Amino acid sequence: LDSRLVLGIETSCDDTGAAVMDETGRILGESSHTQKDVHLKTGGIIPVVAQRLHKENIARVVQEALDKSGIAPRDLSAVATTVKPGLALSLGIGLQYSLNFIQEHKMPFIPIHHMEAHALTVRMIQSVPFPFLVLLISGGHCLLAVARDIDDFLLLGQALDEAPGDTLDKVARRLSLVKHPKCSTLSGGQAIELMAQEGNRLKFHFKSPMGQHYDCNFSFAGFRNQVTQVISKKEEDEGIQPGEILSCVSDIAAAAQYTVASHIAKRTHRAILFCKAKGLLPQNSPSLVVSGGVACNQYIRKTLQIVTDATGLDLHCPPAKLCTDNGVMIAWNGVEKLRKGKGIVAHTANIRYEPK
Ligand code: KG4
Ligand code: ZN
Repeated sequence: LDSRLVLGIETSCDDTGAAVMDETGRILGESSHTQKDVHLKTGGIIPVVAQRLHKENIARVVQEALDKSGIAPRDLSAVATTVKPGLALSLGIGLQYSLNFIQEHKMPFIPIHHMEAHALTVRMIQSVPFPFLVLLISGGHCLLAVARDIDDFLLLGQALDEAPGDTLDKVARRLSLVKHPKCSTLSGGQAIELMAQEGNRLKFHFKSPMGQHYDCNFSFAGFRNQVTQVISKKEEDEGIQPGEILSCVSDIAAAAQYTVASHIAKRTHRAILFCKAKGLLPQNSPSLVVSGGVACNQYIRKTLQIVTDATGLDLHCPPAKLCTDNGVMIAWNGVEKLRKGKGIVAHTANIRYEPK
């Protein structure tokens, strides 16, 4: 047992996650608890509710990860925990739990940046050398950055209003897709992807956002307004009440997915051209890494593949399970920091973090 072991803990949003990992990136045990169905009922995350659910579940989730790994706390080399960014109340539960844990078992702490962890997860599966371009797209995140090292990121652009997963979730809710027999157990983004498969995207046209903005930022709120207006108009035309399902629901889903995909692809294309002009990526096999819940969307992946094929980049997406929030990505980030001896904090230190 020479390999050092890291316990990773994630509580930044609505997933309580824990994982035990060895220095090679092997997952020895993992566990998670999602609050998504609770938040679905209230139509969004209520921070105090998220906090309470993290509090109720964290000890059990961590214990389960340890039990599965057969590792005792004293055999761990460090605890790595998300300290930002995220919901302050949610982050606080993971942080407090971790600080108690490291003080009790006298081991160092590795603070983890949630976005950096998403960005680096792919390196657990395959070797993607620095620097590489990374696109994070989920319900809470939307950004393009150059990952230059495990602790060195250059932000190129981000969403100015809302993240694409959030937009897709809201559109799905407006279309009442949970009531559709095929979609009852799916997230909004998954429901849109499924419905879009049977739809004709050309039946509706939504304006692509930010055509005149020569930067790498994103915007989805205006697009969502357009979709909402079209849905209201169609409900009137078909003489149905909001909450009932439109006959053209798949066509709207297809057109909405197309617009989201093409906006993401266009901003990513700009970022690639910028990186090339500034020499920010290696000449030899530069890479685009795509992660976050929305990266699970096959249509969006295929659209991005067109962009990377045209610009000579390799496209890497971690497997779906690793794209969404989990303890494994936090443990992996801890392992990378432990290996490089970077960002490790003694248990005796005075530890405080801001959620932003
Ligand atoms: O990464 P994640 O689990 O949580 C955060 O938002 O941080 O991502 C969840 C988001 C939700 O908005 C969900 O609708 C979206 O990812 N999503 C998808 C798909 N699967 C999940 N969006 C589009 N297509 C999908 N297949
Ligand atoms: Zn996330």
